Amino acid sequence: MRVLVSGGAGYIGSHTVITLVEAGHDVVIVDDFSNAKPTVIGRLEALTGVHLPVHAFTLTDYDKTEHLFSGEQIDAVIHFAGFKAVGESVTKPLDYYQNNLDSTFSLLRAMRRHDVHTLVFSSSATVYGAEPVLPMTEDSPTSATNPYGWTKVMIEQVLRDVAASDESWRIAALRYFNPVGAHPSGQIGEDPSGIPNNLMPFVAQVAVGRREKLSVFGDDYPTPDGTGVRDYIHVDDLAAGHVAALERVGSHDEPMSVWNLGTGQGISVLEVIKAFERASGREIPYEIAPRRPGDIAASYADPSRANADLRWYATKTIDDMCADTWRWQSNNPNGYPDA
Ligand code: WQD
Repeated sequence: MRVLVSGGAGYIGSHTVITLVEAGHDVVIVDDFSNAKPTVIGRLEALTGVHLPVHAFTLTDYDKTEHLFSGEQIDAVIHFAGFKAVGESVTKPLDYYQNNLDSTFSLLRAMRRHDVHTLVFSSSATVYGAEPVLPMTEDSPTSATNPYGWTKVMIEQVLRDVAASDESWRIAALRYFNPVGAHPSGQIGEDPSGIPNNLMPFVAQVAVGRREKLSVFGDDYPTPDGTGVRDYIHVDDLAAGHVAALERVGSHDEPMSVWNLGTGQGISVLEVIKAFERASGREIPYEIAPRRPGDIAASYADPSRANADLRWYATKTIDDMCADTWRWQSNNPNGYPDA
């Protein structure tokens, strides 16, 4: 299939582009580069050996989005593009609602106009809210504790209603747990701008000497070692889940499907630190700091529906995730070059 990947220059999007090409699909990228560097594209073309058409604009611009579908023969879309920083969404809610929702509305309208009805949407385990029942299943109730999370809940509802309105739609929402890791080549990886919000990139920057030490946000949670527990999933396992969903949803008889993409295993902050020290051979200095507002004690998936429906399984361990992250970070201490 010829697949449009929105946000294809981003962390998860770029890894999915490689997996799509390796699975024999053609890829077209649209990205506004608000949270990605153009140098990613050269890395992707070197790794895939193919030319990747890139359209650089925001999907909130309907005219440009519609024009893209007029000029490119698109068979399906994987929609990653969106603002995704939880803390920023609290301070800039209008930007988050407008960008994430308008870009989705614009994309859906352009798809409908051009008879493209296969869509895989990048959702998140954040839709399970503040007090999830563990392990989270797709039937768990959804809610959110921040505007970013609400955009995911709302977009899933829009997709559910659009799918119900016209049986030609084939839509999948994939709820990611905690994406980490990097392509084994060390050429692409997570490159957050500014101070990383997320644990793994922060640990990697401590290991490579960009940050002095890690603050562990709380060690008094009701977890085995008191620190936060999360279901970390390798970004390449996540990418494989997208390709499996794309190929399944096109033939699936359900207009709208929801699948968790997680390992089903919970790993604590201290366990991540130890794994990263093993992978890098570097000590990770840390201090115990107060809990971060909005954090939950533990989050991990029940991935059995994706295992059964997609015949997809997470394969990589936390040691693989740390080794691949370290290779990326040590090869690119300051992330992607600007040019
Ligand atoms: C993981 C654990 C922290 C940083 C977020 C978003 C979620 C999704 C994934 C988009 C927690 C602890 C972290 C640090 C720490 N993003 N931590 N020191 O919060 O589970 O999920 O990213 O969909 O929507 O909420 O990930 O990596 O920020 O935190 O101790 O400097 O590491 O308390 O226990 P989180 P995270």
